[in-house]
Amino acid sequence: MELWGGRFREAPNELAARFGASIDVDRRLYRQDIVGSMAHCRMLARQGIIDRSSAVTILDGLTAILAEIERGEFEFRVDREDVHANVEGRLRDIAGDVAGRLHTARSRNDQVALDTRLWSREAILDLVRGLVAFADALLDQAQSNMGVAMPGYTHLQRAQPVLLTHHLLAYVEMVRRDVDRLRDAYRRVDVSPLGAGALAGLPYPIDREAVARDLGFEAISRNSLDAVSDRDYVVEIVAACALGMVHLSRYCEEIILWSSTEFGFISLSDAFSTGSSIMPQKKNPDTAELIRGKAGRAIGSLTGLLVMLKGTPLAYNKDFQEDKSALFDAVDTFGASLAVLAPMTRSATFKRDRLIAAASENFSLATDYADFLAQRGVPFRRAHEVIGRLVARCLEQGCTLDSLSLDELRAFAPEFTSDALNIQIWSAIDARDVPGGTATGRVSAALIEARDAIRDVSVWIDEMAGRLPAAEGRLASDI
Ligand code: ARG
Repeated sequence: MELWGGRFREAPNELAARFGASIDVDRRLYRQDIVGSMAHCRMLARQGIIDRSSAVTILDGLTAILAEIERGEFEFRVDREDVHANVEGRLRDIAGDVAGRLHTARSRNDQVALDTRLWSREAILDLVRGLVAFADALLDQAQSNMGVAMPGYTHLQRAQPVLLTHHLLAYVEMVRRDVDRLRDAYRRVDVSPLGAGALAGLPYPIDREAVARDLGFEAISRNSLDAVSDRDYVVEIVAACALGMVHLSRYCEEIILWSSTEFGFISLSDAFSTGSSIMPQKKNPDTAELIRGKAGRAIGSLTGLLVMLKGTPLAYNKDFQEDKSALFDAVDTFGASLAVLAPMTRSATFKRDRLIAAASENFSLATDYADFLAQRGVPFRRAHEVIGRLVARCLEQGCTLDSLSLDELRAFAPEFTSDALNIQIWSAIDARDVPGGTATGRVSAALIEARDAIRDVSVWIDEMAGRLPAAEGRLASDI
């Protein structure tokens, strides 16, 4: 490779060089690489490590390179291995020998860690934006379907009636934890590794804090060996993506079930459905299925990363180069899934009559009959047994619990009173008036609480985004 070949007597083997090149993947870091180099260069000049006029030439060159890349005119070269060498190589094409001063007091090891952290901060903010949009779509559906009962399930068997709003808010809880995980990861990403050099620190009077401030980092790394070999933050982001995808996959699985004729609980808008090439009647939930399938990719990225890391000694190892394809793919997959799921959720129609009818079918109020007896002094276990026998009788006779007369009920348990004839879906739902329960009052309050929490997340995003460095925010001469 062209930049550090003084030691070598032989030209690089073409295959080995191509094999080791990461430019096809890490070219995505070009802006972070340039912004990071600009901050480093300004610090070198301020500290008198390089002269001011060299710094201005370098900064002008980097500004020009950024513009070239953004215009699509930059030629990324495989013989320049990675994004760092491509930018530096191009700087030398433009500025000549002066370009060689930029890499003073820096190694690609702390440089790549810096670039990946800069990229990761933006990626986290984008993902959290996507999670907020998805949560908003769930909350809007939760709000406009307030008052719709549905069967709650365990073991995919109808269990007890719940509010559809309560069911949708359960997904909002998952989204909120996904947001929390990413916010927590952000704190550990938001650390500048620059100044670690190759592994041991640097023999120059660098000002690490100033570079960190310039790039909007909250802190600097404490240990140079760790700074260049830590990939925990990549694992954490990818883990958050993998678990987030698992949540989306579970949600999609319900959408797929619910849009079947067998359930008939939801109708997806045509815009988010596909037809069949042979069966004219088909309307398939392809998008939901694909998200369910893509969850496997994100889990694969996480597994790949963990296995890649586990055998690596301190400090930097080339193995780490594999982190970026896993990171980019997991972030892309999660981001794209959220982006399509928000409008798909918003445009779906819940079939309210069907949901409400299903809520009371299949003895879903059986627990309430048992609770009725338990609240009148019958030990719950006995009440459970009695209602079980009642259900068996109904199954034999093909009737429902609410069709039984008081006398028939009393034949099973004398504790039954006429109030038992009032047991119905709404009494069952509103009776569950405990924190976190499905009673209407609790769910209305939960909806408001969740909206406030999601609004707070947007405030956090704006605050963090405000601290990010602007790419071309400073003039080249503004050292
Ligand atoms: N392309 C490399 C990576 O992604 C950059 C760091 C290379 N450092 C090294 N010592 N070879 O990890």
